[in-house]
Amino acid sequence: MGSEQRTGTFPMLENVATWQNLMFLYESAIKEVRTKLDILSEEFQNNYRYNPIEYVKSRIKTPENIVKKMRRNDYEITMENMVEKINDVAGVRIVCDFTADIYRLVRMIRNLKEFEVIREKDYIAKPKDSGYRSYHLIVKVPVYTTTEVVKTKVEIQIRTIAMDFWATLEHKIYYKFEGNAPDYISKDLRTCADIVAQLDDKMLSLNDAVMRASDRLDNSVIED
Ligand code: GTP
Ligand code: MG
Repeated sequence: MGSEQRTGTFPMLENVATWQNLMFLYESAIKEVRTKLDILSEEFQNNYRYNPIEYVKSRIKTPENIVKKMRRNDYEITMENMVEKINDVAGVRIVCDFTADIYRLVRMIRNLKEFEVIREKDYIAKPKDSGYRSYHLIVKVPVYTTTEVVKTKVEIQIRTIAMDFWATLEHKIYYKFEGNAPDYISKDLRTCADIVAQLDDKMLSLNDAVMRASDRLDNSVIED
């Protein structure tokens, strides 16, 4: 097989050992983030009898999707470019009940000494044109190998259950129409995004009211 044929669509995978090492770093970085999140939520649970995290999902981007993204952005397909320019090879998604939990978690993550937050995007304060809402952070996580410490990038997306419901459906529709959904569908999705935002606000104020009521109940029991 000539080298041209081998390097045709996927020159990055030519150096298998380097590729595997990189993927090992990304997988380890995800584990680091997940462990930190476990500890944070347990600590929070102990202190406040409340868990701000409903569930956590994680994934490594497939080689196909990495290459697609690099092509879309006109980057030469090299491992160096992947490491430098693609921030979401490793991805962690945190799903919370309430919008307030998202900002609480963002503050907690910013306070972690080991993690370096290199970028933040608040698509809740400023939703995307599609209607998409979530909070995004790119963090650099130290991965300790036997020989060195490698700072590895992880994209953390934080959203409520309602935002996740919307994003999952929108993602499916986007792929079904290959990014060219008819106008009435895009418009309906934006309307749904507004309804989801209202639902999140209502659920948060309902929860606040329940907490205040149960505080009053607790206090009256103490006074009795
Ligand atoms: P990408 O090339 O999409 O990764 O964009 P980016 O590097 O500018 O990052 P951005 O923070 O805008 O978005 C990163 C990720 O957020 C995407 O890979 C999706 O997982 C999610 N996302 C962003 N916009 C949308 C959207 O309109 N709908 C859905 N369902 N997800 C979105
Ligand atoms: Mg992405």
